[in-house]
Amino acid sequence: MKEHIQKNFDISTVSYAEYETRTGRFRKLALQLYDRMADQGSGRIESILDAGAGSGISARAFEQRGATPVALDLSRQMLRECTVPGRVQGDFDNLPFSSDTFDAVAFTASLFLAPNPERAVAEARRVLRAGGTVGAVAPLGWRTTAGEDVFAELDRDSRSPADTSEVEAALASEFDLETGTWTFEATGETLRLFHAIPAIAARLYPRLDAEARVERAQQLLADVEGPLEEQWRWFVGR
Ligand SMILES: C[S@@+](CC[C@H](N)C(=O)[O-])C[C@H]1O[C@@H](n2cnc3c(N)ncnc32)[C@H](O)[C@@H]1O
Repeated sequence: MKEHIQKNFDISTVSYAEYETRTGRFRKLALQLYDRMADQGSGRIESILDAGAGSGISARAFEQRGATPVALDLSRQMLRECTVPGRVQGDFDNLPFSSDTFDAVAFTASLFLAPNPERAVAEARRVLRAGGTVGAVAPLGWRTTAGEDVFAELDRDSRSPADTSEVEAALASEFDLETGTWTFEATGETLRLFHAIPAIAARLYPRLDAEARVERAQQLLADVEGPLEEQWRWFVGR
């Protein structure tokens, strides 16, 4: 499973960057998550582990807020795009850091990809200093403005390996949690652009190769029209 995730993101750098250029979605999620963590945590966050940092969009957002991030990711290719000084290729299930190292650990759109989120959360707890803060955002999906799930009537092979309720349960097993939902305006075009990322199309068609799964995803979503809403759940724990 991890090998698949790593390979899928290794080949997703260009389409991921294109989606971000068009929407600014991941930067916005990271900034909003950081602000919640700072508000609900014990004050200023200096050292922050960006767990599943990808190409560094989240890490740069944390830097912009004045924190010092360490960007950790499975995917070497994603990490090569990351410009923050602290970069580590690694697995958030088995963190290469001593206990009590960070003021905060953030999973920006990454924990939902873990086959076993409890393990990643236990590792986050271990590397946090006493009184430290964990934060995560996980997808709730895409809806029409009438509140219908865009995928409800669409036939595809699979969903995410771990859904958002599993992320919540894992975090709640280690932390006192606050949670809420963020809703962003989206269009049929941005939905298709998101599923042009091979690592994301893999959530719909995990058994197809990268090119075939993106093609199938584009066919599946070809007639979806906006306006749409894209929803993400946020979690902050102490
Ligand atoms: C949707 S991207 C989010 C990247 C970044 N946080 C952002 O906001 O743009 C998810 C990232 O999580 C990474 N990831 C997934 N499972 C991981 C694991 N077990 N350990 C480390 N990174 C992981 C993937 O390689 C991918 O780069």
